[in-house]
Amino acid sequence: MDLYEAVKSRRAVRGFADRPVPREVLERVLSAAAWSPSGSNLQPWRVYVLTGEPLAELKKRAGERVAAGDAWDEREYEMYPTALKSPYRERRSAFGKERYKSLGVAREDWEGRQRAASGNWQCFGAPAALFCYIDRDMGLPQWADLGMYLQTVMLLLRAEGLHSCPQMAWSVYRKTVAEIVHPPDDLVLFCGMSIGFENANVDYIRTGRAPLEETVTFVESSALRSHAA
Ligand SMILES: Cc1cc2nc3c(=O)[nH]c(=O)nc-3n(C[C@H](O)[C@H](O)[C@H](O)COP(=O)(O)O)c2cc1C
Repeated sequence: MDLYEAVKSRRAVRGFADRPVPREVLERVLSAAAWSPSGSNLQPWRVYVLTGEPLAELKKRAGERVAAGDAWDEREYEMYPTALKSPYRERRSAFGKERYKSLGVAREDWEGRQRAASGNWQCFGAPAALFCYIDRDMGLPQWADLGMYLQTVMLLLRAEGLHSCPQMAWSVYRKTVAEIVHPPDDLVLFCGMSIGFENANVDYIRTGRAPLEETVTFVESSALRSHAA
């Protein structure tokens, strides 16, 4: 698959087919993703892969917590700034609107939204998932390394005909994940990622992106003159 096609066809898929992902495919993808860059080649990602019985057990335990209305685990990092300013606030709200519209859930329907969110903890039906941790000593640049690594994984999954959904949602049930993967205490769970073949019968609305000028500035030589002292 052409790289541009992989980038453009990657999206957060929230409906997976009941079709297993071969172990050798996961190994091929994760071996290649190890070539992702990281500052001073620290390779700060620490990944646990779940399929089969361990993943089924995780979904079961998480499902029980959701059903019991169990409180979320205390946070080890904030997912978003408490007060999102413009333009991020508007982008987040547009995303929420589109997502609930695709599910036919009204914005004020709190229960419907909870139901939609609970799909996270069933990995949206995916037969495989990974959980990406980082050492708690690491700083912002190493967290950025994790992002590069995870995007590389997601693009390689596209090359294999697979889809994915990165999920910070798992961080709120991090203790349940830890019961299954037994990470050392010095690791923090950044996110999970559901992996599998897409269930083409699940509706979705493709997210948009801000126009290039909003996020990218080509600095022209005229700028040198206009900013000259
Ligand atoms: C770090 C990260 C965490 C995310 N966490 C979740 C999540 O917990 N649940 C979910 O459904 N989507 C999650 N997403 C998916 C985003 O909502 C999605 O990437 C974004 O809306 C853009 O849509 P697209 O990926 O389909 O292009 C996450 C994405 C990233 C990069």
